Amino acid sequence: MSTATTTTSAPAPSVGTGHTRVEGRDKVTGAARYAAEVPFAGLAHGWLVLSTIARGRIRSLDTESVLAMPGVLAVLDHRNAPHLNTDYTGLLGLRPDPTCAVFQHDRVPHLGWPVALVVAETSEQAREAAEALVVHYEQQPHDVELTGDHPDAHPVDGHEPAVTEKGDLDARLASSAFVVDVEYTTPEEHHNPMEPHAATARWDDGRLEVTDSNQGVTWVAGELQNLFSLDPASVRVRSEHVGGGFGSKGVRAHQVAAVMAATLLQRPVRVALTRRQMFALAGHRSPTVQRVRLGADADGRLRALEHRSVSRTSTVYEFVEPSAGVARVMYDADAHHTANHVVPLDVPSPTWMRAPGEAPGSFALEAALDELAEKCGIDPIELRLRNEPETGPVSGLPFAGRYLAACFREGARRFGWADRDSRPGVRREGRWLLGTGTAAASFPAGSAPSTASATAHPDGTFTVRISAADIGTGARTALALIAADALQVSPERIRVRIGDSDFGPAMIAGGSMGTRSWSWAVEAAAGELRERLALGTDIPAQGLTVRSDTTEAVQALGPAERHSYGAQFAEVAVDVTTGEVRVRRMLGIFAAGRIVNPLTARNQLLGGMVWGISMALHEEAARDRASGGVVGADLAGYHVATHADVPRLEADWIEDTDPDDPVGIKGVGEVGIVGAAAAVANAVWHATGVRHRSLPIRPDRVL
Ligand code: MOS
Repeated sequence: MSTATTTTSAPAPSVGTGHTRVEGRDKVTGAARYAAEVPFAGLAHGWLVLSTIARGRIRSLDTESVLAMPGVLAVLDHRNAPHLNTDYTGLLGLRPDPTCAVFQHDRVPHLGWPVALVVAETSEQAREAAEALVVHYEQQPHDVELTGDHPDAHPVDGHEPAVTEKGDLDARLASSAFVVDVEYTTPEEHHNPMEPHAATARWDDGRLEVTDSNQGVTWVAGELQNLFSLDPASVRVRSEHVGGGFGSKGVRAHQVAAVMAATLLQRPVRVALTRRQMFALAGHRSPTVQRVRLGADADGRLRALEHRSVSRTSTVYEFVEPSAGVARVMYDADAHHTANHVVPLDVPSPTWMRAPGEAPGSFALEAALDELAEKCGIDPIELRLRNEPETGPVSGLPFAGRYLAACFREGARRFGWADRDSRPGVRREGRWLLGTGTAAASFPAGSAPSTASATAHPDGTFTVRISAADIGTGARTALALIAADALQVSPERIRVRIGDSDFGPAMIAGGSMGTRSWSWAVEAAAGELRERLALGTDIPAQGLTVRSDTTEAVQALGPAERHSYGAQFAEVAVDVTTGEVRVRRMLGIFAAGRIVNPLTARNQLLGGMVWGISMALHEEAARDRASGGVVGADLAGYHVATHADVPRLEADWIEDTDPDDPVGIKGVGEVGIVGAAAAVANAVWHATGVRHRSLPIRPDRVL
């Protein structure tokens, strides 16, 4: 027995001070194990066989010769795979995407659809056999081409309704002094986290254990439990270190296939995806075709705003990239119409990718605002300030802190915007044309129910357990700082354990909601533990543990438009001889609530801005109409911004508080990419005088 060891004088607060990642050393020395590196005795390896046609049926599979190959243990396909339950609604309120429910029928809805899993003693044997497996198909014609006027386009509700309409749009456009009516397109984009998807499944004493790389163990455990009709207590999913996710790491084909094989063989089975397979199996961002119509008075005040987006989904699942949603928060107008439509085509199901909706949507909307500013002869920042809404333009709800104008003022000051000559195409430096651009950013700040526990140990240390995910963001470290302040101890005395569904349900690392949601639960558990210790409660040898559940606190938060905001600034140089666009500098000023760890928060915001450069200038998956697949499905063929593309970037923030929120965090995960591509595109116009309305702004498009 020992008594409470909390110090009499509390240390200085940890939240708000910079801390390197607690697992950083383990990661850079190789001590941290990623999902495909965790050793298991008797491990077998599964290799997925993907369809080579884009639409049709499987007629037969020549499995017999493959079963005779060295080391091969089994071949799973639609003829022998267990039946899955797909009739449920998961943690995120969504029906399962049939893309992850493998081997349930003989239909092929896209190129790269999983048709079999070959399991062998080694990964090499499994791969060789998988590549040798001959599959006979009945091929049908396919269509992968998205057009803005596709006859199959129809509205689809996402988390928000597909369509919002207020006022008479045509009448307001007709009476506007200035009108912008433009179409923008963004291409198919892929997440490409550094660590490919991988999972190992095994049965241990009647319990299914999955060692995975995902964005939420509660989520993946729940999906597997539903798909395999298991008792919730009999599924455990662990995901300790995750090398990036960006929306792609939920439940997918490989975990399900691994569970099937482990069940059949009664031994551990690992299924890892190759980079190339990820282009078909990891989800992606749909291309978009967006039309924006703006009508304004002579003084730049918006009278009409229409934002329509058409995106693409698979024929088996309706996923909407809700690009028109951003207009519902950013700008009001007497007539305000938004619509998100989708077209089902013979492609893999798209999924969330960093700032789903907001990333492509802000490109179109914020570029259109820049075009309107040019027409009105008003500075682009001044135009936005004149159109700041009092309440949510569509919801009518009050804003829980809207500091967009403050972001622009601070950003303009630091970027040197006041000296800007608004004329396009007039600054030349040798063969380079120079320009600057700006754009607004916003992303919702949500919170979801989570549970956590905090344990005091007799030696004066503490353990916090929560089913959180650290996908590289520094979430684990942020939670240590939150716990330290709640316990009024230094963070070195706290160990944060995450990524284990046995710790109880918690929100995923997604929607910029992870750290916010988990912090509520961690603060509640750690705060109550401190109170218990302050009362002199003894700490038994096994520790004193307090648990929290934020379900009620989340429900009690009043309705409001809660968002992070930002102002993005970019300076570019455009080579008039090659068409190359180089970003020279970028500045993002954000209002994102309370910043827990300035070091990792800045990393997050900068990461988003880098991705914005990538989106503006490089990223584009070329889907071949003939085969239906992505051409150059690897990091050589799919270009992302590299060090040489990224100049000096600065991300910073201003004060932003929400008195109704127990922790005050708003989220930095996604707002950094929002508006970043538009700022670059607007700068390219300022440099050259030419509007580029299709991303990426490739040299051949510039010339
Ligand atoms: Mo994010 S796209 O919610 O992982």
